[in-house]
Amino acid sequence: PVRLGIMASGTGSNFVALCDAVSDRTLSAEIAVLIYNNPGALVAERAKERNVPAVLLDHRQYKPREELDRAIVAELQRRNVEWVVMAGWMRIVTPLLIEAFRDRALNIHPSLLPSFKGAHAVENALDAGVKITGCTVHYVREQVDSGPIVMQAAVPVLPDDTRDTLHARIQAQEYRILPQAIALAVHRSRSGS
Ligand code: GAR
Repeated sequence: PVRLGIMASGTGSNFVALCDAVSDRTLSAEIAVLIYNNPGALVAERAKERNVPAVLLDHRQYKPREELDRAIVAELQRRNVEWVVMAGWMRIVTPLLIEAFRDRALNIHPSLLPSFKGAHAVENALDAGVKITGCTVHYVREQVDSGPIVMQAAVPVLPDDTRDTLHARIQAQEYRILPQAIALAVHRSRSGS
């Protein structure tokens, strides 16, 4: 099993989906640590319920950005994390973290990249009037939301959608593809392809 470090900022429903995939063995992994940046984030409760160590690294206490990433990398390395998964991580990461986990860091984003990068992907897709959107798992690179794509799923936009109804439909696909994409990326790196 691959040792994962999960980074999350908020609700943590993708974190829960990953824990479920690990416990029902559809994903051969162990979750070594959850790193979160917002005190009171629901994801921390979810980690505690599942006996996953939850470490708060509050970005407000680390300036500049690199200092937060330095603390994150130290925590991940201390726990022998092999792969990092950003599952609802809402901070921009710097080369310091990207280089420490080069080709071993994945992010999930709620659009069909390269469309709708950034923090408001669901809303931006609605505003643009697209009829299909979705989610993307990709490697983390210096350019935000731009690394090589591992997996995507398409989702229809329905006429009466609000940001919340559309986001819920996208998230159902996130829970499905994130564990699969991790397994695929890890497998590829181990088989050297
Ligand atoms: C997910 O939909 C994820 O794709 C998105 O945040 C949500 C987190 O939900 N990520 C981004 O927008 C990254 N820019 P969760 O906390 O319930 O997993």
